[in-house]
Amino acid sequence: MSILVTGGAGFIGSNFVHTWLAGSDELLVNLDKLTYAGNLGNLQSLAQDPRHMFVHGDIADRELVQALLTQHQPRAVLHFAAESHVDRSIHGPLDFIHTNVVGTCQLLESVRAYWSGLSPDVQQSFLFLHVSTDEVYGSLKPQAPAFNETNLYEPNSPYAASKAASDHLVRAWHHTYGLPVLTTNCSNNYGPFHFPEKLIPLVLHNAMAGKPLPIYGDGMQIRDWLFVQDHCRAISRVLEAGRPGETYNIGGWNEKPNIEVVNTLCSLLDELHPRADGKSYAEQITYVKDRAGHDRRYAIDAFKISTELGWRPQETFETGLSKTVAWYLQNQCWVENVTSGGYRDWVTANYAGRA
Ligand code: NAD
Ligand code: DAU
Repeated sequence: MSILVTGGAGFIGSNFVHTWLAGSDELLVNLDKLTYAGNLGNLQSLAQDPRHMFVHGDIADRELVQALLTQHQPRAVLHFAAESHVDRSIHGPLDFIHTNVVGTCQLLESVRAYWSGLSPDVQQSFLFLHVSTDEVYGSLKPQAPAFNETNLYEPNSPYAASKAASDHLVRAWHHTYGLPVLTTNCSNNYGPFHFPEKLIPLVLHNAMAGKPLPIYGDGMQIRDWLFVQDHCRAISRVLEAGRPGETYNIGGWNEKPNIEVVNTLCSLLDELHPRADGKSYAEQITYVKDRAGHDRRYAIDAFKISTELGWRPQETFETGLSKTVAWYLQNQCWVENVTSGGYRDWVTANYAGRA
């Protein structure tokens, strides 16, 4: 028995690999292109583990993916690989089309060819699980109810549009070809191995480097935060008991305005890693030019996954954030490794024009 994971060297993918292997002896084949966001350092503790096989490659490479499927005969494919950062999608949308749209389509075709050749009983138990985002639903008005699985798709950024397209492809491969698929749409994750281009790890990194903590616009945009390992447990549960063809929203029932998140991070750092001058890290907060087309509010109604599958987050925002800050303080080598080289070029490209 084996499973194939795509994008397992990224933030959520690597957390999933660790969470999965903590409870399974199955072979996990991990296919990742190692873009700027993929990092083998996230998987270092598995280097000698025979249950983990890392393969460097692109999901759009049909020959490679079909060879992996034929060789390892996985019972499931879990698709995490994507270009994932909204700001990068605004600077350069085409990489998002290559991986999130064309790559997902090529992967679906490779999987369909493999699945079509399986015996009927193996075919029936096979699953393709597509990991997606709440951003496909667009932006909520202040008093609107949280997104549930029946909300219209109204993606606003190139990233969100590319993920929406991938969700539609997955849905169509189920309806047209009968491929057994599951789609999950999750809210904002945070936790270990989060690349410091995203708000929470960027603020932690900048705070300790004595740099400004950039708040886009008025800082009152709302996100629904979920600790990454809770997301990973939700994915395992959907794989175990989800109904093929269904979508499941995953979220933490935990809406926070950005400025509140950043102030909480500053307070945690003040306590755990005080500034040498005794002042608060909050003094480094700097309001900067807003993100183009910035979505005002996301919130997930996670009622379906909770009632149908019995999943609930185990961490509160307070416990999850404390664990996250502690992880970043203890793993400064990891931060130094991932913030060398190309990272600096990105910071210049994204923040130089916002002052
Ligand atoms: P990430 O950017 O940290 O990691 C993406 C991984 O995919 C990297 O390891 C990268 O090397 C790999 N990859 C990119 N293009 C590839 C290609 N063509 N072939 C093979 N591998 C490729 O992303 P993440 O934050 O871990 O997100 C994982 C998935 O979860 C994405 O599909 C994202 O849309 C979704 N998601 C993320 C969040 C979040 O808060 N981060 C929330 C909801 C859903
Ligand atoms: O909602 C799920 C999505 O969450 C995922 O699909 C995406 O892959 C993931 O990147 C994340 O998207 P966001 O755009 O919400 O995350 P980000 O961390 O980039 O930004 C969070 C909020 O903080 C957002 O309102 C923008 C704001 N922000 C971000 C950065 C990087 C700032 O104010 N300053 C910053 O420097």
